[in-house]
Amino acid sequence: MSEQYRPILHMTPSSGWMNDPNGLVYFNGQYHQFYQYHPHTTVWGPMHWGHKTSTDLIHWHELEPALYPDESGMCFSGSAIVDWHNTSGLFETGKSGILAFYTSFIQPKVTLADGTEIEDPIQQQCLAFSQDGMTWKKYADGAPIIPSRGNPDFRDPKVTWHEDSQAWVMVVSCGQHIEFYRSTDLLDWRLVSEFGYRHGAHSKGPWECPDLFEMQIEGNDETRWVLVVGIGEGAHCGGAGTQYFIGDFDGETFNNHNHPESVLWLDFGRDYYATQSFSDIAEQDGRRLVSTWMSNHQYSLELPTLAFRGSMAMPRELFLFESKAGLRVGQRFVKELNKALSLDAQENLLNDEQAISIYSQHKAMKFTADCTLDEKQILHLNLYQDTPVFFEFKRAEKGVEVRSVRRGQFGKELIDVHFSHDYRVELPVDSKFQVELLIDKGSIELLINGGQFSFTNLVYAKNTDASIALSVDSGSLKLSNIEVAGLMGEKSC
Ligand code: FRU
Repeated sequence: MSEQYRPILHMTPSSGWMNDPNGLVYFNGQYHQFYQYHPHTTVWGPMHWGHKTSTDLIHWHELEPALYPDESGMCFSGSAIVDWHNTSGLFETGKSGILAFYTSFIQPKVTLADGTEIEDPIQQQCLAFSQDGMTWKKYADGAPIIPSRGNPDFRDPKVTWHEDSQAWVMVVSCGQHIEFYRSTDLLDWRLVSEFGYRHGAHSKGPWECPDLFEMQIEGNDETRWVLVVGIGEGAHCGGAGTQYFIGDFDGETFNNHNHPESVLWLDFGRDYYATQSFSDIAEQDGRRLVSTWMSNHQYSLELPTLAFRGSMAMPRELFLFESKAGLRVGQRFVKELNKALSLDAQENLLNDEQAISIYSQHKAMKFTADCTLDEKQILHLNLYQDTPVFFEFKRAEKGVEVRSVRRGQFGKELIDVHFSHDYRVELPVDSKFQVELLIDKGSIELLINGGQFSFTNLVYAKNTDASIALSVDSGSLKLSNIEVAGLMGEKSC
């Protein structure tokens, strides 16, 4: 189990390949997290739904895969809900259970007029069900509940209950837009609208992994609907990225409140894709909790891990807040994280007027501090002792400019071309801002101002011991409320 880049705090499969989180749902006191899984190798292959459960979102217990590929197709991404009132009629009378909506992917061979044989990929929406959340059955032996409509990219159904219009709603990505379906029995689905043409970020590839939910604006009673959409390539700094739209939704049509060309990114790092929210949290505490695949299609197949490949970002709680630039979705680490960590004594801080270094005994570490930038000053945040991974912060016209730099060579083609980066993002925040940094083996997650903005990046340092050095190029280093916490020991999830 123990290997150099096996995270301590982040969810990974014990072995095999993992990509998107699927079917996130809270049921009978447990969080269920399914995921795109290929148990037989550490590269993508015939997709299963891997399965883990947790009571605190930090420690995960691995179970047998819930869904297996068969002649009805591979099991691509999707979502789950609790069918509390047995609306589907798939459970014993008076019982509830979980419904999982997934995409089946098949590639039948078709013979063309000239005799050549080609593969004709088909994606359709299917259903599986489970009364206890542990044993699963494909509905109608894997026959689709929404058959292919001709577009080869038609996938990743996310289902949610729309209270105002008393119907179930499914969002599905189809080419470069999102389709909205409605149902009252969870089996028959009717297409009611589409969204996406000329809105947000597009590239050559399809949109993927949509999510749709209502959120209350922090500090007032108003709500907005948020539509989350992944783009597999062409994101703000290359490769895959997760964008979102803020608007209203009447149960049929999503209306974007921002200019169609404006693009909002959920995270400004390179490794934050296929974000999905947990269903049925109301029973728990009503938070909007998400899990996200911490990787990028550009190089995910060549990450330098051994027994496994793929990890999830720290689960986060979303919030909707009014920033200087308008409404934005922020994301804080789930509060359960702090319970898992213990605070460090402060003597590990080596401090002088212009620099501070923090070395922790912990294998995974969280560092928090308030930083104040003088005019023209550059604050340098260096991570790890022997690997070029750093952030820089300086004041900018409309806030603070963050520079993110990561370099790495692994002797493999794709990752060597795409992994290194050096880009800048201007954030609408004041010159006094908070940084919160979670460092685990293989990743760093930087949150600004309690998660108003975030940067999530994989990092494969030579020496994975967590260390941070902060320094300024001029004037003095102004830090306050410094806190260091961490977790000892072997992998816990
Ligand atoms: C996103 C994705 C999904 C698809 C799944 C297949 O990473 O391409 O659109 O359902 O991965 O594993």
